[in-house]
Amino acid sequence: MPSVYIKTYGCQMNERDSEAVAAQLAAKGYTIAASEAVADVILLNTCSVRDMAEQKAIGKMQNIAADVRRNRPDVVLGFLGCMAQSRGRQLIDQLPDVDLVLGTQKFHRAAEYLDELLAGRREKIIDTESESGSEATIKEHLLLGRRDGAAGPVSAFVSIMQGCNQHCTFCIVPFTRGEERSRAIPDIVAECRQLAENGVKEITLLGQIVTSYGRREIPAREGRSGFVQLLAAVHEIEGLERIRFTSPHPKGYGDDLVAAYGELPKLCESAHLPAQSGSDRMLKAMHRGYTREKYLGLIGKLRRVQPGIGITTDIIVGFPGETEEDFDLTLSLAREAQFDNAYVFKYSPRQDTPAAAMPGQAPRGLKEERHARLLEEINAIGKRRYQERVGQTMQILVEGPSKRGPRWTGRTRCNKIVLFDGSERHRGRLMDVRIERAGLFTLYGDPAILNPD
Ligand code: 5AD
Repeated sequence: MPSVYIKTYGCQMNERDSEAVAAQLAAKGYTIAASEAVADVILLNTCSVRDMAEQKAIGKMQNIAADVRRNRPDVVLGFLGCMAQSRGRQLIDQLPDVDLVLGTQKFHRAAEYLDELLAGRREKIIDTESESGSEATIKEHLLLGRRDGAAGPVSAFVSIMQGCNQHCTFCIVPFTRGEERSRAIPDIVAECRQLAENGVKEITLLGQIVTSYGRREIPAREGRSGFVQLLAAVHEIEGLERIRFTSPHPKGYGDDLVAAYGELPKLCESAHLPAQSGSDRMLKAMHRGYTREKYLGLIGKLRRVQPGIGITTDIIVGFPGETEEDFDLTLSLAREAQFDNAYVFKYSPRQDTPAAAMPGQAPRGLKEERHARLLEEINAIGKRRYQERVGQTMQILVEGPSKRGPRWTGRTRCNKIVLFDGSERHRGRLMDVRIERAGLFTLYGDPAILNPD
Protein backbone atom coordinates (compact mmCIF):
# COMPACT_ATOMS: atom_id res chain seq x y z
CA MET A 1 0.00 0.00 0.00
CA PRO A 2 1.17 3.55 -0.64
CA SER A 3 2.52 5.85 2.02
CA VAL A 4 1.36 9.41 2.58
CA TYR A 5 2.99 12.49 4.05
CA ILE A 6 0.83 15.43 5.08
CA LYS A 7 2.26 18.81 5.99
CA THR A 8 -0.05 21.29 7.67
CA TYR A 9 0.02 25.08 7.65
CA GLY A 10 -2.13 27.34 9.81
CA CYS A 11 -4.56 26.88 12.64
CA GLN A 12 -5.76 24.04 14.88
CA MET A 13 -8.73 23.45 12.58
CA ASN A 14 -6.25 22.68 9.80
CA GLU A 15 -4.30 20.35 12.08
CA ARG A 16 -7.52 18.56 12.88
CA ASP A 17 -8.51 18.28 9.19
CA SER A 18 -5.10 16.79 8.39
CA GLU A 19 -5.47 14.28 11.17
CA ALA A 20 -8.88 13.24 9.86
CA VAL A 21 -7.44 12.79 6.34
CA ALA A 22 -4.51 10.78 7.73
CA ALA A 23 -6.91 8.57 9.72
CA GLN A 24 -9.11 8.07 6.66
CA LEU A 25 -6.09 6.98 4.59
CA ALA A 26 -4.66 4.80 7.38
CA ALA A 27 -8.01 2.98 7.54
CA LYS A 28 -7.61 2.20 3.83
CA GLY A 29 -4.20 0.66 4.51
CA TYR A 30 -1.91 3.60 3.75
CA THR A 31 1.12 4.02 5.97
CA ILE A 32 1.85 7.46 7.36
CA ALA A 33 5.32 8.50 6.14
CA ALA A 34 7.67 10.30 8.51
CA SER A 35 8.95 12.58 5.75
CA GLU A 36 8.20 13.62 2.21
CA ALA A 37 11.41 11.92 1.02
CA VAL A 38 9.86 8.47 1.39
CA ALA A 39 6.20 9.16 0.60
CA ASP A 40 4.18 8.05 -2.43
CA VAL A 41 1.63 10.77 -1.81
CA ILE A 42 2.56 14.24 -0.55
CA LEU A 43 -0.23 16.54 0.58
CA LEU A 44 0.09 20.13 1.76
CA ASN A 45 -2.86 21.28 3.86
CA THR A 46 -2.81 25.02 3.38
CA CYS A 47 -3.70 28.30 5.09
CA SER A 48 -4.93 31.48 3.41
CA VAL A 49 -5.33 33.79 6.36
CA ARG A 50 -2.23 35.83 5.52
CA ASP A 51 -0.27 36.04 2.30
CA MET A 52 2.87 34.68 3.94
CA ALA A 53 1.15 31.38 4.74
CA GLU A 54 0.15 30.99 1.08
CA GLN A 55 3.64 31.84 -0.16
CA LYS A 56 5.19 29.29 2.20
CA ALA A 57 3.02 26.45 0.90
CA ILE A 58 3.57 27.43 -2.72
CA GLY A 59 7.35 27.63 -2.17
CA LYS A 60 7.31 24.26 -0.46
CA MET A 61 5.40 22.65 -3.32
CA GLN A 62 7.83 24.15 -5.84
CA ASN A 63 10.74 22.58 -3.96
CA ILE A 64 8.99 19.23 -3.68
CA ALA A 65 8.09 19.24 -7.35
CA ALA A 66 11.68 20.06 -8.35
CA ASP A 67 13.20 17.49 -5.97
CA VAL A 68 10.84 14.58 -5.77
CA ARG A 69 9.48 14.59 -9.28
CA ARG A 70 12.92 14.28 -10.86
CA ASN A 71 13.61 10.93 -9.19
CA ARG A 72 10.14 9.60 -8.54
CA PRO A 73 7.78 10.72 -11.29
CA ASP A 74 4.85 8.67 -9.93
CA VAL A 75 4.55 10.51 -6.62
CA VAL A 76 1.13 12.15 -6.27
CA LEU A 77 1.20 15.80 -5.16
CA GLY A 78 -1.81 17.58 -3.70
CA PHE A 79 -2.96 20.83 -2.14
CA LEU A 80 -5.72 20.58 0.47
CA GLY A 81 -7.72 23.03 2.51
CA CYS A 82 -8.08 26.78 2.57
CA MET A 83 -5.73 27.85 -0.24
CA ALA A 84 -6.93 24.94 -2.37
CA GLN A 85 -10.44 26.29 -1.84
CA SER A 86 -9.66 29.93 -2.60
CA ARG A 87 -7.30 29.37 -5.55
CA GLY A 88 -8.64 26.14 -7.07
CA ARG A 89 -7.51 25.47 -10.64
CA GLN A 90 -5.13 28.44 -10.53
CA LEU A 91 -2.80 26.30 -8.42
CA ILE A 92 -2.42 23.70 -11.16
CA ASP A 93 -1.95 26.41 -13.78
CA GLN A 94 0.86 27.81 -11.66
CA LEU A 95 2.30 24.45 -10.59
CA PRO A 96 1.56 21.86 -13.30
CA ASP A 97 3.16 19.08 -11.23
CA VAL A 98 0.25 19.21 -8.78
CA ASP A 99 -2.27 16.39 -9.29
CA LEU A 100 -4.92 17.09 -6.68
CA VAL A 101 -6.62 20.25 -5.38
CA LEU A 102 -9.10 19.46 -2.63
CA GLY A 103 -11.25 22.15 -1.01
CA THR A 104 -12.39 22.52 2.59
CA GLN A 105 -15.68 20.64 2.15
CA LYS A 106 -14.02 17.64 0.48
CA PHE A 107 -11.47 16.27 2.94
CA HIS A 108 -13.52 13.08 3.27
CA ARG A 109 -13.05 12.38 -0.44
CA ALA A 110 -9.25 12.27 -0.26
CA ALA A 111 -8.99 8.46 -0.29
CA GLU A 112 -11.32 7.97 -3.23
CA TYR A 113 -9.56 10.64 -5.32
CA LEU A 114 -6.09 9.36 -4.46
CA ASP A 115 -7.17 5.85 -5.55
CA GLU A 116 -8.12 7.21 -8.94
CA LEU A 117 -4.90 9.18 -9.32
CA LEU A 118 -2.64 6.33 -8.15
CA ALA A 119 -4.40 3.87 -10.45
CA GLY A 120 -3.94 6.28 -13.35
CA ARG A 121 -7.67 6.48 -14.04
CA ARG A 122 -7.55 10.26 -13.83
CA GLU A 123 -4.68 12.68 -14.37
CA LYS A 124 -5.79 15.69 -12.35
CA ILE A 125 -8.57 16.21 -9.85
CA ILE A 126 -9.85 19.57 -8.68
CA ASP A 127 -12.81 19.55 -6.32
CA THR A 128 -13.71 22.73 -4.44
CA GLU A 129 -17.49 22.37 -4.58
CA SER A 130 -19.64 22.91 -1.51
CA GLU A 131 -21.22 19.78 -0.06
CA SER A 132 -24.11 19.73 2.35
CA GLY A 133 -23.38 17.73 5.48
CA SER A 134 -19.61 18.05 5.03
CA GLU A 135 -19.31 19.72 8.48
CA ALA A 136 -20.02 16.29 10.00
CA THR A 137 -17.30 14.44 8.07
CA ILE A 138 -14.27 15.49 10.14
CA LYS A 139 -14.62 12.77 12.75
CA GLU A 140 -11.89 10.12 12.27
CA HIS A 141 -8.98 10.11 14.71
CA LEU A 142 -5.61 8.53 14.13
CA LEU A 143 -5.29 7.18 17.65
CA LEU A 144 -8.43 5.09 17.33
CA GLY A 145 -6.92 3.12 14.50
CA ARG A 146 -3.72 2.23 16.38
CA ARG A 147 -2.90 -1.43 16.70
CA ASP A 148 0.66 -1.13 17.99
CA GLY A 149 -0.37 -0.73 21.61
CA ALA A 150 1.59 2.53 21.89
CA ALA A 151 0.19 5.19 24.20
CA GLY A 152 -2.20 7.48 22.36
CA PRO A 153 -2.44 11.21 22.95
CA VAL A 154 -4.08 12.41 26.16
CA SER A 155 -5.54 15.45 24.45
CA ALA A 156 -7.64 15.58 21.28
CA PHE A 157 -9.39 18.11 19.05
CA VAL A 158 -12.98 17.72 17.92
CA SER A 159 -14.42 19.78 15.08
CA ILE A 160 -17.95 20.93 15.97
CA MET A 161 -18.79 23.23 13.07
CA GLN A 162 -17.54 24.75 9.85
CA GLY A 163 -17.64 28.20 8.33
CA CYS A 164 -18.18 31.75 9.44
CA ASN A 165 -20.88 34.35 8.79
CA GLN A 166 -19.24 37.25 10.57
CA HIS A 167 -17.46 38.77 7.55
CA CYS A 168 -14.80 40.76 9.36
CA THR A 169 -13.50 43.08 6.67
CA PHE A 170 -9.93 41.74 6.85
CA CYS A 171 -10.77 38.04 6.80
CA ILE A 172 -10.76 35.48 4.01
CA VAL A 173 -12.29 32.68 6.12
CA PRO A 174 -15.91 33.11 4.90
CA PHE A 175 -14.56 32.51 1.38
CA THR A 176 -12.42 29.50 2.30
CA ARG A 177 -14.71 27.79 4.83
CA GLY A 178 -18.14 28.87 3.64
CA GLU A 179 -21.28 29.57 5.66
CA GLU A 180 -21.68 28.48 9.26
CA ARG A 181 -22.86 24.87 9.59
CA SER A 182 -22.99 22.95 12.88
CA ARG A 183 -22.87 19.26 13.70
CA ALA A 184 -25.58 17.77 15.93
CA ILE A 185 -24.91 17.46 19.68
CA PRO A 186 -25.35 13.63 19.85
CA ASP A 187 -22.91 13.17 16.96
CA ILE A 188 -20.24 15.30 18.69
CA VAL A 189 -20.86 13.64 22.06
CA ALA A 190 -20.47 10.16 20.49
CA GLU A 191 -17.10 11.18 19.04
CA CYS A 192 -15.94 12.63 22.37
CA ARG A 193 -17.10 9.54 24.25
CA GLN A 194 -15.14 7.27 21.94
CA LEU A 195 -12.04 9.40 22.51
CA ALA A 196 -12.50 9.25 26.28
CA GLU A 197 -12.90 5.46 26.09
CA ASN A 198 -9.54 5.38 24.33
CA GLY A 199 -7.75 7.25 27.07
CA VAL A 200 -8.20 10.86 26.00
CA LYS A 201 -8.53 13.09 29.08
CA GLU A 202 -8.82 16.52 27.49
CA ILE A 203 -10.90 17.62 24.50
CA THR A 204 -10.77 20.94 22.70
CA LEU A 205 -13.91 21.74 20.73
CA LEU A 206 -13.03 23.52 17.51
CA GLY A 207 -14.79 25.89 15.16
CA GLN A 208 -14.11 29.15 13.34
CA ILE A 209 -16.49 30.88 15.79
CA VAL A 210 -17.66 28.36 18.39
CA THR A 211 -19.94 30.90 20.06
CA SER A 212 -22.10 30.72 16.91
CA TYR A 213 -22.43 26.94 17.26
CA GLY A 214 -25.99 25.75 16.59
CA ARG A 215 -27.31 29.31 16.40
CA ARG A 216 -29.84 28.43 13.74
CA GLU A 217 -30.28 24.72 14.45
CA ILE A 218 -30.53 24.50 18.25
CA PRO A 219 -33.06 26.62 20.17
CA ALA A 220 -31.94 28.12 23.49
CA ARG A 221 -33.09 26.13 26.53
CA GLU A 222 -33.40 27.59 30.03
CA GLY A 223 -31.28 30.52 28.92
CA ARG A 224 -28.55 28.24 27.56
CA SER A 225 -27.39 28.69 23.97
CA GLY A 226 -26.72 25.69 21.72
CA PHE A 227 -23.01 25.95 22.46
CA VAL A 228 -23.47 25.89 26.22
CA GLN A 229 -25.88 22.93 25.83
CA LEU A 230 -23.12 21.16 23.92
CA LEU A 231 -20.56 21.92 26.65
CA ALA A 232 -22.96 20.54 29.28
CA ALA A 233 -23.54 17.37 27.23
CA VAL A 234 -19.80 16.76 26.70
CA HIS A 235 -19.27 17.45 30.39
CA GLU A 236 -21.33 14.35 31.22
CA ILE A 237 -18.83 12.00 29.56
CA GLU A 238 -17.18 9.68 32.04
CA GLY A 239 -13.40 9.54 31.96
CA LEU A 240 -13.09 12.94 30.33
CA GLU A 241 -11.36 15.33 32.73
CA ARG A 242 -10.96 18.58 30.85
CA ILE A 243 -12.86 20.56 28.22
CA ARG A 244 -11.59 23.52 26.22
CA PHE A 245 -12.82 25.32 23.11
CA THR A 246 -11.47 27.69 20.49
CA SER A 247 -12.16 30.23 19.15
CA PRO A 248 -15.07 32.15 20.61
CA HIS A 249 -16.08 35.58 19.29
CA PRO A 250 -16.32 38.32 21.96
CA LYS A 251 -19.60 39.41 20.36
CA GLY A 252 -21.32 36.07 20.89
CA TYR A 253 -19.90 35.44 24.34
CA GLY A 254 -23.13 35.39 26.32
CA ASP A 255 -23.64 35.39 30.08
CA ASP A 256 -24.62 31.70 29.85
CA LEU A 257 -21.11 30.92 28.59
CA VAL A 258 -19.49 33.09 31.28
CA ALA A 259 -21.58 31.27 33.89
CA ALA A 260 -20.55 27.89 32.48
CA TYR A 261 -17.04 28.47 33.87
CA GLY A 262 -18.56 28.42 37.33
CA GLU A 263 -20.97 25.54 36.68
CA LEU A 264 -18.96 22.99 34.72
CA PRO A 265 -15.89 21.88 36.69
CA LYS A 266 -14.31 20.15 33.68
CA LEU A 267 -14.38 23.38 31.67
CA CYS A 268 -10.83 24.71 32.00
CA GLU A 269 -10.44 28.32 33.08
CA SER A 270 -8.87 29.59 29.90
CA ALA A 271 -10.18 31.63 26.98
CA HIS A 272 -8.69 32.70 23.67
CA LEU A 273 -10.57 35.90 22.92
CA PRO A 274 -9.50 37.60 19.68
CA ALA A 275 -9.58 41.38 20.30
CA GLN A 276 -7.96 42.47 16.98
CA SER A 277 -7.69 46.14 18.10
CA GLY A 278 -8.18 48.42 21.09
CA SER A 279 -9.62 51.29 19.05
CA ASP A 280 -13.38 51.52 18.54
CA ARG A 281 -12.78 53.23 15.19
CA MET A 282 -10.73 50.26 13.98
CA LEU A 283 -13.13 47.70 15.50
CA LYS A 284 -15.92 49.32 13.52
CA ALA A 285 -13.91 49.37 10.29
CA MET A 286 -13.06 45.71 10.89
CA HIS A 287 -16.76 44.90 11.40
CA ARG A 288 -16.12 43.19 14.72
CA GLY A 289 -19.45 44.00 16.35
CA TYR A 290 -18.17 45.07 19.80
CA THR A 291 -16.48 48.05 21.41
CA ARG A 292 -13.36 48.24 23.54
CA GLU A 293 -15.58 48.79 26.57
CA LYS A 294 -17.68 45.69 25.82
CA TYR A 295 -14.55 43.63 25.31
CA LEU A 296 -12.95 44.73 28.58
CA GLY A 297 -16.32 44.25 30.30
CA LEU A 298 -16.35 40.63 29.15
CA ILE A 299 -12.85 40.04 30.51
CA GLY A 300 -13.98 41.53 33.82
CA LYS A 301 -16.98 39.17 33.94
CA LEU A 302 -14.80 36.13 33.21
CA ARG A 303 -12.31 37.08 35.92
CA ARG A 304 -15.11 37.54 38.43
CA VAL A 305 -16.27 33.96 37.80
CA GLN A 306 -12.73 32.50 37.56
CA PRO A 307 -10.06 34.87 38.91
CA GLY A 308 -7.22 32.62 37.69
CA ILE A 309 -8.51 32.34 34.12
CA GLY A 310 -5.82 32.48 31.43
CA ILE A 311 -6.74 34.94 28.69
CA THR A 312 -5.00 35.09 25.33
CA THR A 313 -5.85 37.05 22.20
CA ASP A 314 -5.16 37.83 18.54
CA ILE A 315 -4.31 41.37 17.48
CA ILE A 316 -3.81 42.85 14.03
CA VAL A 317 -1.51 45.85 13.60
CA GLY A 318 -1.44 48.14 10.57
CA PHE A 319 -5.08 47.69 9.54
CA PRO A 320 -5.91 50.28 6.80
CA GLY A 321 -6.27 53.74 8.32
CA GLU A 322 -4.80 52.78 11.71
CA THR A 323 -3.29 55.96 13.21
CA GLU A 324 -0.73 56.27 15.97
CA GLU A 325 -3.63 57.10 18.27
CA ASP A 326 -5.50 53.92 17.30
CA PHE A 327 -2.36 51.90 17.86
CA ASP A 328 -1.84 53.49 21.29
CA LEU A 329 -5.33 52.33 22.18
CA THR A 330 -4.30 48.76 21.27
CA LEU A 331 -1.23 49.07 23.50
CA SER A 332 -3.37 50.32 26.36
CA LEU A 333 -5.95 47.57 25.78
CA ALA A 334 -3.17 45.00 26.19
CA ARG A 335 -2.17 46.64 29.49
CA GLU A 336 -5.73 46.88 30.76
CA ALA A 337 -6.71 43.37 29.72
CA GLN A 338 -3.47 41.90 31.12
CA PHE A 339 -3.31 39.16 28.51
CA ASP A 340 -1.36 36.05 29.38
CA ASN A 341 -0.21 35.94 25.78
CA ALA A 342 -1.17 37.32 22.38
CA TYR A 343 -0.63 36.46 18.74
CA VAL A 344 0.24 39.69 16.97
CA PHE A 345 -0.25 39.84 13.19
CA LYS A 346 0.73 42.40 10.58
CA TYR A 347 -2.31 43.19 8.47
CA SER A 348 -2.17 41.29 5.18
CA PRO A 349 -4.56 42.32 2.37
CA ARG A 350 -6.64 39.32 1.22
CA GLN A 351 -8.33 38.91 -2.11
CA ASP A 352 -12.01 39.93 -2.26
CA THR A 353 -12.09 41.20 1.34
CA PRO A 354 -13.39 44.79 1.84
CA ALA A 355 -10.33 45.92 3.82
CA ALA A 356 -8.01 45.15 0.90
CA ALA A 357 -9.67 47.97 -1.04
CA MET A 358 -9.79 50.47 1.84
CA PRO A 359 -7.76 53.68 1.67
CA GLY A 360 -4.86 54.17 4.06
CA GLN A 361 -3.02 50.87 3.49
CA ALA A 362 -0.06 50.96 5.88
CA PRO A 363 3.49 50.67 4.55
CA ARG A 364 5.41 47.56 5.54
CA GLY A 365 7.86 49.44 7.76
CA LEU A 366 5.06 50.88 9.86
CA LYS A 367 3.47 47.46 10.36
CA GLU A 368 6.83 46.03 11.38
CA GLU A 369 7.48 48.82 13.83
CA ARG A 370 4.06 48.48 15.49
CA HIS A 371 4.36 44.72 15.52
CA ALA A 372 7.66 44.97 17.41
CA ARG A 373 6.35 47.58 19.87
CA LEU A 374 3.22 45.59 20.67
CA LEU A 375 5.16 42.34 21.04
CA GLU A 376 7.48 44.01 23.50
CA GLU A 377 4.48 45.08 25.56
CA ILE A 378 2.84 41.64 25.34
CA ASN A 379 6.08 39.94 26.41
CA ALA A 380 6.51 42.28 29.37
CA ILE A 381 2.94 41.67 30.55
CA GLY A 382 3.25 37.92 29.96
CA LYS A 383 6.50 37.77 31.88
CA ARG A 384 4.90 39.40 34.90
CA ARG A 385 1.82 37.22 34.75
CA TYR A 386 3.87 34.02 34.53
CA GLN A 387 6.13 35.23 37.33
CA GLU A 388 3.07 35.70 39.55
CA ARG A 389 2.48 31.94 39.38
CA VAL A 390 5.80 31.08 41.03
CA GLY A 391 5.16 29.46 44.40
CA GLN A 392 1.64 28.36 43.44
CA THR A 393 0.49 24.76 43.21
CA MET A 394 -1.15 24.06 39.87
CA GLN A 395 -2.80 21.02 38.35
CA ILE A 396 -1.24 19.82 35.10
CA LEU A 397 -2.20 17.20 32.55
CA VAL A 398 1.02 15.52 31.42
CA GLU A 399 1.28 15.37 27.63
CA GLY A 400 4.68 13.78 26.98
CA PRO A 401 8.39 14.53 26.66
CA SER A 402 9.27 18.08 25.66
CA LYS A 403 10.36 18.42 22.03
CA ARG A 404 13.39 20.40 23.08
CA GLY A 405 15.23 18.48 25.69
CA PRO A 406 15.11 16.16 28.57
CA ARG A 407 12.11 17.54 30.46
CA TRP A 408 8.48 16.50 30.27
CA THR A 409 5.62 18.82 29.48
CA GLY A 410 2.21 19.32 31.01
CA ARG A 411 -0.47 21.97 30.69
CA THR A 412 -2.26 23.84 33.45
CA ARG A 413 -6.00 24.35 33.35
CA CYS A 414 -5.33 28.00 32.44
CA ASN A 415 -3.41 26.67 29.40
CA LYS A 416 0.16 27.37 30.42
CA ILE A 417 2.96 24.96 29.58
CA VAL A 418 4.82 23.51 32.57
CA LEU A 419 8.17 21.73 32.17
CA PHE A 420 9.31 19.29 34.83
CA ASP A 421 11.60 16.31 35.36
CA GLY A 422 9.29 13.52 34.32
CA SER A 423 9.25 10.10 32.77
CA GLU A 424 6.94 7.69 30.95
CA ARG A 425 5.08 6.86 34.16
CA HIS A 426 3.75 10.44 34.24
CA ARG A 427 2.17 10.35 30.78
CA GLY A 428 -1.54 11.15 30.78
CA ARG A 429 -1.61 11.83 34.50
CA LEU A 430 -3.35 14.73 36.13
CA MET A 431 -1.13 15.90 38.92
CA ASP A 432 -0.23 18.87 41.06
CA VAL A 433 3.07 20.65 40.63
CA ARG A 434 4.67 23.42 42.60
CA ILE A 435 5.80 26.20 40.27
CA GLU A 436 9.48 26.83 40.97
CA ARG A 437 10.29 29.45 38.37
CA ALA A 438 9.01 31.11 35.21
CA GLY A 439 10.55 31.70 31.81
CA LEU A 440 8.98 33.56 28.89
CA PHE A 441 5.59 31.82 28.42
CA THR A 442 6.83 28.70 30.23
CA LEU A 443 6.58 27.59 33.84
CA TYR A 444 8.98 25.17 35.53
CA GLY A 445 7.45 22.89 38.12
CA ASP A 446 8.34 20.25 40.65
CA PRO A 447 5.85 17.44 41.24
CA ALA A 448 8.02 15.52 43.73
CA ILE A 449 6.58 16.46 47.11
CA LEU A 450 2.98 16.64 45.96
CA ASN A 451 2.83 13.30 44.14
CA PRO A 452 4.64 10.63 46.14
CA ASP A 453 4.61 7.24 44.44
N1 5AD B 1 -4.16 40.00 8.10
C1 5AD B 1 -3.54 39.78 9.29
N2 5AD B 1 -4.05 38.98 10.23
C2 5AD B 1 -5.22 38.37 9.97
N3 5AD B 1 -5.97 37.53 10.70
C3 5AD B 1 -7.06 37.19 9.99
N4 5AD B 1 -7.04 37.80 8.79
C4 5AD B 1 -5.90 38.55 8.76
C5 5AD B 1 -5.34 39.41 7.80
N5 5AD B 1 -5.93 39.65 6.64
C6 5AD B 1 -5.61 37.14 12.08
C7 5AD B 1 -6.71 37.55 13.07
C8 5AD B 1 -7.34 36.23 13.41
C9 5AD B 1 -6.17 35.30 13.29
C10 5AD B 1 -6.52 33.85 13.17
O1 5AD B 1 -5.51 35.74 12.15
O2 5AD B 1 -6.08 38.12 14.20
O3 5AD B 1 -7.92 36.21 14.70
